[in-house]
Order: sequence, then C-alpha cells, then structure tokens
Amino acid sequence: MFLDFSTLAPREAYFWMASTITPRPVAWVSSISKTGVTNLAPFSFFQMLTANPPSLMISPLLNSDGSLKDTPRNIEETGEFVVNLVTYGQVEAMNQTSFGYAPGESEFEKCAIPSLASSLVKPPRVAGASVSFECRLARLLPYPEEAPSCIVVFGTVLAAHIDEAIVGENGKVDPARLDLVSRMGADWYGRTQAEGNFELTRPAGWAR
Ligand SMILES: Cc1cc2nc3c(=O)[nH]c(=O)nc-3n(C[C@H](O)[C@H](O)[C@H](O)COP(=O)(O)O)c2cc1C
Repeated sequence: MFLDFSTLAPREAYFWMASTITPRPVAWVSSISKTGVTNLAPFSFFQMLTANPPSLMISPLLNSDGSLKDTPRNIEETGEFVVNLVTYGQVEAMNQTSFGYAPGESEFEKCAIPSLASSLVKPPRVAGASVSFECRLARLLPYPEEAPSCIVVFGTVLAAHIDEAIVGENGKVDPARLDLVSRMGADWYGRTQAEGNFELTRPAGWAR
C-alpha cells in the first residue's frame, strides 16, 4: 500500500499518521485564564525537546473556525502551564476533560478532578498524577506560517513533582511502576506495564 499524501484530504492524513505514529504519550495540561478560570485537557501531540534547557512541546490544533483552544489561549495569556502525565487509573477522567467545555467552565470542577497547588506557577496540578511538570511558556509557533492549523507550544520545565511510588530502590524511575497511558489510533490506548517493557543496552563502545 502506497499513500501519496499530496492526494489525501487533511482528515485522511490525520487518520493514517495518528494511527501509526504511536504510542504517543499524553500530556494532561492544566492552565488558567487571565480571569482565573482553571482548565485541563489532554494532548497527545506532545514530546520532550531537549534537557538543556529542559524543554517540551505540545501541539494544540486550531478550532475549525481558526480560533485557539482554551489551553493555548490560556498559555498565551498567562505564560504558564503544567503537564501532568496520565496513569491508567486516571484514563476515564482524562477522557472526560477532552469534552469541549465553554471557556468559562473549568474541567477540574465539571469533571470533579482533584487538584493541588503548584509550587512555581499559578495553574494547579492534578492530584494523584505520578508526574507533573511545571512549565513556563518559551515560545508559541503558529504552524505552518502561511496557513496555520496548529499552534505549537514550547515550554521550559521549571520543576517536577514525582510520586515516590514510581521510584525504585536504586533511586531511578522504575518503568514497571509507571503504568502510563499512551494514545494509539482512533479510540485505542496503550499502557506501559511490566510485561510490555524490556531492556536493551546501547552498542558496545557507545559513550553517553
Ligand atoms: C487522548 C487525547 C489526546 C488528544 N490530543 C490532542 C492534541 O494533541 N491536539 C489537539 O488539538 N487536541 C487533542 N485532543 C483533543 C483536546 O483534548 C480537546 O479538543 C479539548 O477539548 C481541548 O480542550 P481546551 O479547549 O480546554 O484546551 C486530544 C484528546 C484526547 C482524548
């Protein structure tokens, strides 16, 4: 099967890319508007960029009328956000927060998601998340420039809250204890579990 993307509608390109570029980690992003309304939404177009400075990105698509989703609008307004990672036990709650609530409505309240104050930024973090990264906006990039369909959010990680339950006796994160959820195609999700994990050391002579 050969797919010439110049012949595909954006919807078809989305389908083939989003169902094969998997598993994608899910950033469960908390933010706050300039008037103080909190917001929480999942984004699987999400990655680490570099550790120097510690940086990550999410890519919220534009709404069909070209407007910004609440998350990037809040981040543009206040310059701060929190990326919470999603454990299997939180997957139903995460899914509920993807509903298109009005800008004045908080998913924390609508979906009864418990929150905790962050340490360095205003948006709260999700209580019970095994990992939460407090971030400051580094750059907003509408892409592509001539006809944007998304606004890429680059963030600098200021701090992390790590649940000690995921840290092994050696002081490092134990992949078997993470149990994080990832996005597959359509309504499918993956789960990091001990049975699916394996160790592969770098080639001999490779220097870190
Ligand atoms: C698992 C999951 C991953 C998602 N990833 C993205 C994404 O990467 N980009 C995007 O624009 N929307 C994504 N969505 C849809 C948004 O979560 C949805 O549009 C949400 O209403 C945005 O909320 P907001 O307007 O409060 O920011 C995803 C939904 C789910 C359930």
